[in-house]
Parts: sequence; C-alpha cells; structure tokens
Amino acid sequence: MYLGIDLGTSAVKTVLVDDAQRVIASESRALATASPQPGYYEQDPAQWIDATFATLDALKASHAGAMAAVEGIGLSGQMHGATLLDASSKPLRPCILWNDGRSGEECRVLEQRWPALRAVTGNKAMAGFTAPKLLWIATHEPDIFAATKLVLLPKAYLRLVLSGEAIEDVSDASGSLWLDAARRDWSDAALAATGLSRDHMPRLVEGCAPATTLRSELARRWGMARPPIIAGGAGDNPAGAVGIGAIEPGTAFVSLGTSGALLAPTNKIAANPDRVVHTFCHAIPGMWIQAGAILSAASCLAWVARLFGVAEAELLAPLGARPQAPSPVSFLPYLAGERTPHDDPAVRGMLDGLSHGTDRGAIVQAVLEGVAFALADCRDALADAGIAIADADVIGGGSRSSFWLAVLANVLNVPIHRFAGGETGAAFGAARLGRLAVTGEAIAAVCTRPQRVETLEPDAGLTDAYVERLPAWRELYRPRH
Ligand code: XUL
Repeated sequence: MYLGIDLGTSAVKTVLVDDAQRVIASESRALATASPQPGYYEQDPAQWIDATFATLDALKASHAGAMAAVEGIGLSGQMHGATLLDASSKPLRPCILWNDGRSGEECRVLEQRWPALRAVTGNKAMAGFTAPKLLWIATHEPDIFAATKLVLLPKAYLRLVLSGEAIEDVSDASGSLWLDAARRDWSDAALAATGLSRDHMPRLVEGCAPATTLRSELARRWGMARPPIIAGGAGDNPAGAVGIGAIEPGTAFVSLGTSGALLAPTNKIAANPDRVVHTFCHAIPGMWIQAGAILSAASCLAWVARLFGVAEAELLAPLGARPQAPSPVSFLPYLAGERTPHDDPAVRGMLDGLSHGTDRGAIVQAVLEGVAFALADCRDALADAGIAIADADVIGGGSRSSFWLAVLANVLNVPIHRFAGGETGAAFGAARLGRLAVTGEAIAAVCTRPQRVETLEPDAGLTDAYVERLPAWRELYRPRH
C-alpha cells in the first residue's frame, strides 16, 4: 500500500494506492492563497501541514486497515516557492509562490551577475523561480535574509515536518535556478550569485529513490505498522508525468491545473530559455522534461465562475460537448502575468470583442480558448527547441471538460487523450514514486500508461478557423515590462 501526497496550490490531495495500482481512497483539503499586493501570492506553510495532516487523519478514520499497510510515501508539490527557515527550522515568513511576480527586476540582476545562468540551469531567470525571490528578500527584508538558514521548496518543507530531514528531489530543485540541470546537482556559482551556499540547501535525491522515513510518532498517529519510506518525489508536473507513464521521449502531455503547461519528456536537455521553455529534471534518472508553462489555466475558469457567481459545471453545461465555431470574444489568460512565451510578470488579462450581443457563453468559451491559444504559444516555443508534438494526454482538473479538450484538440491540431481519474495525476504519480523507492522495481513496469477513456480529434473546419484566429489573438498582447 502506498500514499501519494500532492501539495498543490488550491488544495492538498492525498491518494491511497494498493499494490495493484488502484486508487482505493482519496482525500483533499483546500488551501487559501493571500495576495498582500497586486501580483504578490503567498501561503502560510502551517496551512500545508494542517491540510496534509487532515487528509491523513481522514484516511486513517475511513481506511485504517489500508493505512496500517502503507510501506511507501511519495510527495509531489507546487514548484518554485521560497520557504525560508530560521536556525530552528521555523518559517520566517509566508512562502512566496510560483506565480508571484514581485522579483522581475531581480531576474535582470541575477542574469547580469551570473551570465552562465541560462547555459547551466537550462532556464531563463523568471520571477516565479526561487532564486530571484531570495534576491528580493535580501533587498526588501534584509533581516529575514540574514536569519535564513535553509531555503526549501514547499514539499521539502512538508517532508521536513514529516521526517525531520531536509531533502529535495532533483525535479523540483530544477525550478529553483540553483541546479546544474545536466549534472543534477546544486550549482555553487548559482547559489553564490544569490548570496547563498550549499549550506542553505537540502540534500538532493532522485525522485524515485528512498529519501527518508516518516517519524515514528506520525506513523503511530496514522496507524501504520512500520514507519514508511518517503521517496524523493517530484514537482507537480514531473509527478503528473510519472502518473500517466510519460517517461519516454515522444509522450507529450498538457496539464490543466491552477497553472497550465505543455510538457515533453526528453532523454537529453533540449533547452530553449530564450523562448521561455522550462528545463526540469524528470523524476526518472537520466530523463528531463522540457515545458512551456502558463501561469493561469483552470484558475481562469475559476475566475469567470466567481465573476458570474455560478459553479464551473453550470458555466460549462450550456456550451454543449463541442465548439461549433470560435467565440466572437477573445481572452488573454494573463491574470497573474505570463511565463511562456513572454516572461512578463506585469502583463494582465484582457477580454476583447465584447458587444451588446455578447452573452455569458461567449465569454466562457473565450476564456477556454484563450488558455488553449496560450498553450499553442507553448507548442511553438517547444517546436523551436526541436520538440514536435504529435498528440497529447491531458491531466489536471480542467481535463474534466470535454468541451475544453475539444477546443484544445482544434487549437493545437493534435488528438488529445483523457484518462479516467486524470485529475488526480500528480498525487498518483507521487504514490508510484513512493512504491519505486520501496520495491526498486523496474521503472517502466510501474509507470505504465493508464487506460485512455476518450480521444478528442481535431476537426478540419474548426482547426482552420482557430488557426486563422491565432495571429489576431497574439496581436492583443502588449508588453508591460
Ligand atoms: C511550473 C509551475 C506550476 C507550479 C504550480 O513551472 O510554476 O506548474 O508547479 O502548479
């Protein structure tokens, strides 16, 4: 029996997976994000712990027998967040999240100070990444910077509380800008450029390797016979890849979570930082992931649902199963700025083409299309790195909408596949990493591809209509940085 815990942005999701890889139970607890200023996004790390413990307490209450048999735990997490700890491992301030745009200026400073940054990390210095946040703290909160003894990504902080040890996996670490992506190790030069050293960093492990064990008092609290092994785990996107068996080159997938991404596993680095392609180590040794990442995906749907004061399902139902034609309205999904392809933390969203005749459906459809067009920009950035996408799987909460996936199939002009239970991808992938850490089985034997339940094929007429619309949609972007 294995547990997968995904410390997401909107919730902590925990799944209990049996030896036949069936999800036998899952629990989720919502997380709140604070925005102390426009473009700033923070979470209190104590909230992650409370939410995680609540999911595990609930699983203990409902599935005591299965919890007793848990042997391995895998962690997945929202990437890039800066959790700063003092000498007694207490958080010094709220965590600054992956979508926080405050450190744009620090990115320019970092690239000037360390010109090899793009070559070594495979990434462009961007506001969401961890290193520029530390430069921002050094300037704006110098006392906190001086007191910082350890910098952890969100799930490494969770692991510290669960195990007592500061350990990070290489996939999540590659979103920090402190990792040498080819060597899969911290870069001393990268750390020095931020005024830090290896002493501020956790120990590194591969995602499927055993990292540590659960504290014995917590194992007792959740009724486990023996303290389970905790695997390295992965950032949410690489964990999602493990969950759907995307462990070989040529297995691209789209993530439609709070954020969005188009991701392609590779067996060598195919970086393209100038076009804002992200380079992550995969959770599988010897593999990497190249990705176009957008900051707002399913969160755009949540935004429009809040605006109209109705549930997302109620917004989507009148649209039917498939689009008939592109919406007359256009939407830029840059509600929190954008990474691929603009790297512009200051840009904001836009609705264009409104008229007296515009109804709610046209706006909702435009929102879904805007996210799909942003993913077309990701596709083109990946193509520029030599990565062609022939078809794509979809994971994340947004994958529940067939209409959205049909839009995506037409905009990207590739077949889009959906899985049963696709929305639990990252937590399921984490559970697989927990299993690999315990059993040492062959990776390919565990990371199989789940059953596809639906394939949305592009429709020639609609694809042409969307291809024609794309240049006009791109014209709407005006740089703000
Ligand atoms: C990836 C990214 C997001 C976060 C939150 O670069 O910033 O996907 O991991 O989900």
